[in-house]
Amino acid sequence: MNPLALNLNEQLMEQNPNLLDMMSDLGKNMYYPKGILTQSAEAKATDYNATIGMATDRNGMMYADTLYDMFNHLSPEEVFAYAPPQGLEALRDLWLKKVLADNPDLQADQITRPIVTNALTHGLSLVGDMFVNPGDTVLLPAHTWGNYNLVYGVRHQADIQKYPIFDENGHYTTQGLVETLQAVKQDKIILILNYPNNPTGYTPTVDEVRTIVDAVDELANRGVNVVTVVDDAYFGLFYEDVYTQSIFTALTNVNNPRILPIRLDGATKEFFAWGFRVGFVTFGLSDNASKAVVEAKMKGLIRSNNSNGSTPSHSAVRYVLENPEQFNKDIQANIDTLEARYHVTKEMVYKDEYQTLWQPYDFNSGYFMALRVKGIDAETLRKHLIDQYSIGIVALNDTDIRIAFSCIEKDDIPHVFEKIAQGIQDLQK
Ligand SMILES: Cc1ncc(COP(=O)(O)O)c(C=O)c1O
Repeated sequence: MNPLALNLNEQLMEQNPNLLDMMSDLGKNMYYPKGILTQSAEAKATDYNATIGMATDRNGMMYADTLYDMFNHLSPEEVFAYAPPQGLEALRDLWLKKVLADNPDLQADQITRPIVTNALTHGLSLVGDMFVNPGDTVLLPAHTWGNYNLVYGVRHQADIQKYPIFDENGHYTTQGLVETLQAVKQDKIILILNYPNNPTGYTPTVDEVRTIVDAVDELANRGVNVVTVVDDAYFGLFYEDVYTQSIFTALTNVNNPRILPIRLDGATKEFFAWGFRVGFVTFGLSDNASKAVVEAKMKGLIRSNNSNGSTPSHSAVRYVLENPEQFNKDIQANIDTLEARYHVTKEMVYKDEYQTLWQPYDFNSGYFMALRVKGIDAETLRKHLIDQYSIGIVALNDTDIRIAFSCIEKDDIPHVFEKIAQGIQDLQK
């Protein structure tokens, strides 16, 4: 059991043992991790808060005016009525159209109609409900979003194993995944693929995607059922020559009955609409019977959990998908802002003078980049940067930090990295 859960349970044992007795195993195992949200809260008062998974500029949130404005265009029915568990049908069709436009190698009959979820976390949890039994193996990248542990490790009691995605020089590699898949002995695994990656901001190239997909195919051909969970939270935020379709598409096109491609995506990051809570789950299935069964079971899972999503949010996303002209321009302007910040970040972190202080992990997309800091403890650096330089970053573990350039103005980025460098030098002394 996680030490934080143990601690909570010990408090109950002293204060209210009956309450502890009443709890399910899940209740006993649950805790609130000291992860990014805690570190973000500690960085709230800093001048340069590079901890959060949203995008901001000096005016506050970066959003699309068209999305902000849309409540003036919705009828009472579109705001107040219940949405069905699977989400507004019109929204599902519009998202399907978007998925196909973004993924030209995909045909409509190869996939299910997207089911609307209460954003990606809900979708990931539903996938756990449907496919993860206690003890099942879930393979996560070593550089990963912490919440997968809570969803699959704590909630679903999976056996979490990690595969490296960077070599010792910080360069992206598919070798760790390929070797991990070759060594699989189980007859079923759940493989999490998240690109652009949180926390490192890496997306594979066309060749790297080919290698990954071939390795999954080879594993499936050995008789292993491979549930591939593609978390596309940051889809579309690509700044270099990478594979710009979803890896879900490449996996679906393999057409291997032992591979189940599942895609989680949504408005959260793609539409700069974090609080709307609109996500989608789509399956790479082509036979109609399987499609209908999966949809029925998903609807049952949603009905028995949060019942249905929020109609105003569904209607809002539907509205901008139906009126894309100005909306697409709004979104592109935000992506351009992030891309400009990405280029400045890149210039800063690869400067020769800093290479004795840190090693950048390869990055080319998304909201973030990560550094391995040399000779000092990452958590000590995090606190030092808040106290001395009013800069908030995330300590990922003992050696790595994550910097969200999504929340730092382009002109402030040099200052932030100069001070991170100075902070490391202070502590190296
Ligand atoms: C990789 C990844 N997946 C999923 C999510 C959660 O997305 P949502 O807010 O849509 O639940 C995040 C949020 O930070 C993320 O970084």
